[in-house]
Amino acid sequence: MKGLVCKVCGYVALDGNKEICPICYAKNVFEEREDAYKMPDFKAPSGETEKKHIPDFTVVEKCGLIPGTGCVDVHVKIGEVLHPALSEHHIQEITFYIDNKFISNVMLTSSINPAAVIHLKGGTKGKVQVIETCNLHGKWFNEIEIK
Ligand SMILES: [Fe+2]
Repeated sequence: MKGLVCKVCGYVALDGNKEICPICYAKNVFEEREDAYKMPDFKAPSGETEKKHIPDFTVVEKCGLIPGTGCVDVHVKIGEVLHPALSEHHIQEITFYIDNKFISNVMLTSSINPAAVIHLKGGTKGKVQVIETCNLHGKWFNEIEIK
């Protein structure tokens, strides 16, 4: 997919804001790339590479971490078939957005599982989008609607 990419850290600006990078804080360093990230092909059956890279969501609507707030957890693991966590092949980052706006970035190493959780405020609605970065296979996108 075409997208705006930070030339310093590789962050993809889904909202098109290219003034400042929210990850590395560099200014005016975005460039448009034809292959900024890969999307799942919902019409075709997934191959092994897709199954290991497309972010896989689980929404926990009653997480209860902050009682009385209606908070919601969105769990993301990479992917439907768990991605390797080896020093030579691992997930480096999981970046979260809501309705194309950046909300969080999780840095990963091969010492932990390729997964992350975002803890949303109660009443949050919209599309939670994720772009994960594999050190060998690039960036992969998926999204889920929170109602
Ligand atoms: Fe990979």
